[in-house]
Amino acid sequence: MPSEQPDSSSALPSAPIGFFDSGVGGLSVLDTVFHHLRDESYLYLADTQHMPYGERDPQEIVRLAASCLTWLVSQHQVKMLVVACNTASVCLPAMLERPEYQALKTLPIINPITPTCRWVAEGPYRRVGVIATMATVLSKQYVERIQAANPKIEVQQVACELLATFIEHGKTHKPLFQSILEEYLAPLIEWEMDALILGCTHYSHIGQEIRSQLPDSVDILDPADFIAHEIKQQLKCQGSSSVAEDHVQAITFRVTGEPNEFEQVSDELPMKNITVDIVQAAVVPLILPETPNTD
Ligand code: DGL
Repeated sequence: MPSEQPDSSSALPSAPIGFFDSGVGGLSVLDTVFHHLRDESYLYLADTQHMPYGERDPQEIVRLAASCLTWLVSQHQVKMLVVACNTASVCLPAMLERPEYQALKTLPIINPITPTCRWVAEGPYRRVGVIATMATVLSKQYVERIQAANPKIEVQQVACELLATFIEHGKTHKPLFQSILEEYLAPLIEWEMDALILGCTHYSHIGQEIRSQLPDSVDILDPADFIAHEIKQQLKCQGSSSVAEDHVQAITFRVTGEPNEFEQVSDELPMKNITVDIVQAAVVPLILPETPNTD
């Protein structure tokens, strides 16, 4: 049973929008969203203590992600949840089925996968590549959702196991990084894809490096753009009121692990609109796993 139940009914229209990722990846989403919505306030939670999520099994990812989402809602009364992590998002449907997380459903929950698949299914592409973490690739959600909506589109995925960790620890200047990136992209280039989905929010930070390895004919699809559109729509429905004055950056950053590295690595990331500072450690109580049923 969870240690505490979120009470989302008390969220005010002027409350912050809660963002969540395992690490620095979701900052790429926040950077894009902030560009479009500068008058909102934001609370960004990175579960750096448990990063990388992509190498964990789905049960564990549900437990970690549910703990973080519950913390955002019950401790900070956010008005909306943005799961800026594909790996956690693939576990959302299973999570939200469970009785103990029903309270989360009273808030809008935005994820990268739903709007991206919807857009791709209606778009001009016929061969779509996806690069993502192992857990996202194994879930097959990008493949199944795109093809359910448009069976004419072929989708091929590549699991890029080490990539997010390199980015998280600011190691993208290493020669090894360039060579593994090349290795991951090679089969998709050979397959002659016409678009590539960045299926892990960490990868948006290396958009330039990815672009330089792809033929010009391949379009890069960054779910951050679709998320920003989705949030705008949602806020319109909610009739939300803005809180930040004079476009002053109103973003609070919290991490479950060591704050200094997060702040240092973030400084080096190619973000245009936000600056990560005054990061504090967050104590996020882990929701206990279910007692195994031995019947
Ligand atoms: N940023 C996360 C995503 O979009 C994954 C990073 C991790 O493996 O923790 O999938």
